[in-house]
Formats: sequence, C-alpha cells, structure tokens
Amino acid sequence: MSMVDAKAIEQAKEHFGKILEEQLKRVEAMKSAQDWTDYSGLKTIKIGICGGDGIGPYISQHAQTVLEELLKDEIGGGKVQVKVIEGLTIENRVKAMKAIPDDVLAEIKNCHVILKGPTTTPKKGDPWPNIESANVAMRRELDLFANVRPVKVPELGVDWMFYRENTEGSYVLGSRGVNVTPDLAMDFCVATTQGSERIIRLAFDYAKKNGINKVSVVTKANVVKTTDGKFLSIAEQVSKDYPEVKWDDWFIDIMTAKLIDPYRRKDFKVIVLPNLYGDILTDEAAQIQGGVGTAGSANIGKQYSMFEAIHGSAPRMVDEGRAQYADPCSMIKAASMLLNHIGYVDKAKKLDMALDVCVQFEKKLVMTGRSNGATGAQFAKYVLDTVKDPALESRWQAYQKAMPA
Ligand code: IPM
Ligand code: MG
Repeated sequence: MSMVDAKAIEQAKEHFGKILEEQLKRVEAMKSAQDWTDYSGLKTIKIGICGGDGIGPYISQHAQTVLEELLKDEIGGGKVQVKVIEGLTIENRVKAMKAIPDDVLAEIKNCHVILKGPTTTPKKGDPWPNIESANVAMRRELDLFANVRPVKVPELGVDWMFYRENTEGSYVLGSRGVNVTPDLAMDFCVATTQGSERIIRLAFDYAKKNGINKVSVVTKANVVKTTDGKFLSIAEQVSKDYPEVKWDDWFIDIMTAKLIDPYRRKDFKVIVLPNLYGDILTDEAAQIQGGVGTAGSANIGKQYSMFEAIHGSAPRMVDEGRAQYADPCSMIKAASMLLNHIGYVDKAKKLDMALDVCVQFEKKLVMTGRSNGATGAQFAKYVLDTVKDPALESRWQAYQKAMPA
C-alpha cells in the first residue's frame, strides 16, 4: 500500500469514527425520547407553512387556502394559528450553504406542525452547490421518523398504507459518504434497533387499530444482510406483540413487480420498509393512483410533524411557464393528513371525500399540467366547493356505488 493510500484510509477512518459517535448519540436520544405531543391539550396549535420552491409556492398556497377555510372558526377563536415561514428556498439555502438556514429552522421549531411545499434537492452538476436535501434535513432535525403515505385506487381494489422509515437507512448519511481515494467512493447505510422498532411498531399499531389483518415488511435482507437483516428480525420480534395481525416479508425487487400484478396487489394493506425502498416504492404506488401529483405524505415524529407532497419541485414547469397548472392535490391531501393528525378527524374525512369525488369520480375539472387542463387555483376551488356542499355525502356515496364490489 502506498503512503498516499495509507493516509487516505486514516482520514476515512477518522470520518467514520465521528459518524459512529454521532449515530450512537442518536440511539441514546431515541432511548429517552419524550411522549407524543397532545394537540388537544395545547392552547394554540401553531401550523407553519413553508412554500418551498419551483411549483412549491403555487400549490402550497392552494392547500393553505383550503386549510384556512376549513379551520376558519378555530383560527378565529385562537385555537389554531397559521404562520407562513419564508426562506426555505433554494436561493436562500444556497446563500446560507445549509439545507435549512438557521433562522428558518428556528421558526419551524416554533410551530407544532408544518405544511411544506416541495424543495429543490440539488445533485452534482446542477447550477446549485450540491447541498443536502431540505426534506432529509428536516426529517432528521425534527426526528420525523415515520413517513406515512396512503395510496388508494378503489376501482382496482387497491388500499395501501406505506410506513416508510424516515431517519435512517441510506438517507441518514447520504451527504456524508467519503471518496476515500479518487477511485474509491463509499456511502453508509444505517439501521438501529430503536429506529427500526419504532416505525415497525407504528405500522402494526395502525393495522391493529384499524382492524387490518395484514402487514408486509419489505427489505432486501437476502443481500443487504446487516442493516436490512436487522430491520427484518426486529419486525419478527415486534410481530409477536400483535398476534391478531398477520404479517409477511417480501424483497423489494419482487414487491416492485407485485404492485403492478392485478391479482396480488389487492392483498397488500400496510407496508413497512426502510427509507430508500420506501422512497422508490411509494412513487410507483402513487403512479398507479394517478401520478405523484395526487399523493400526500405525513412525516410523523413524537414532538413535531410535517406534511408534504411526495414529489419534487418540478422546476421545468416553472421554466416553461406552466406553474399555475401544477396539480395542488398532493398538497391538499397533505393538508387533510395534517388536519387528521392534529385531531380534526371529521374535517379531514370530508376533505378526503371531496378529493375522492373530484379527482377519482366526477372529474368536472381535470388537471393535465398544461394549459389544456384546469389551473391549480380552479381545481382547489372545485375541491373546496365540494367540501362545503351539503350534498357531499351523497356525491361520495354515488362514487362508492359506482365502484366494483
Ligand atoms: C420524497 C422525495 C425526497 C426523498 C427527495 C426530494 C429528497 O423524493 O419525499 O420521496 O427522497 O425522500
Ligand atoms: Mg421520493
């Protein structure tokens, strides 16, 4: 081994040592984690809105309108406060050279829940410096360990609830890999007992509470033996506490195929999986539902939660002057998940019914992302008018009747 290589190895070891220390600290923090926030006990629930960039501010603004309208009384009475948080834009983030500038993070932490528009995630070669994703940073900073993504297509018999691990896997150190030498690049994948257990338990809890007799655990534990192996063996242990819930395990490759198998996909209900597999599989699932523009996502932690679209900021739509045609449904769905999470279960249910009626059934307006379709503002108004329609229930029932049994 050359002197140069020996030095490179020592440097990489030092870097690795620091990472190990940090990760063990994180484990200790998880062990002593506090209780869940009790929203009903709060004097004022503070909702922060970060527009993001690209199409983010366009679609977030429509989701904000819907949210404020549904919470009109609560906002008027001071139980809920909605606060727009500026500054989570790529320009600002690059200026601070931080995934989330300090002042923005402080404002975020001053709220209880966040509704967040998509933010640009740079990659090498982009006009921006290759800074860390704001999503990934926020999930880590607020310890939002569960990424919950529902996908429903009643006419296909599809009703899936994904529980994607959100603070570990290949993501947690995705910006901290090392080029040991010009020829050798290494990234890290992390699984902890505590991190795996908390997401798997949440998935089983959800199944149990909702009378769903099926949890599928997805890994690649036959190849990625240590981290995925841990995830799977923790699932095995946790499952023993839920004898009433059946579970099975799948490898990510075959699961990707099975989601488009019309005979098998109906069998899946609750799916729990490590971070990267969850990222990929939920885009596929959302596409089956009608596109990533239709899917919302909840990032849940014990103290904070954040709600967002599952897609990116689509800068191309802005460049091509089509931002006003961006589909706000993902963000409106995120708003409904937020309402549900902070305890406004009935309002969330109504909003979901309206989204079902407008997007899946009546389709009086259709979004195409271009000028031959509705604008985001028009579609948001359509959804809001539908929520407020006294005939909402019967319109939704008509949708249910039209579905194959
Ligand atoms: C998602 C997105 C993010 C992720 C990106 C924008 C960093 O794809 O929420 O699924 O990979 O988690
Ligand atoms: Mg994704």
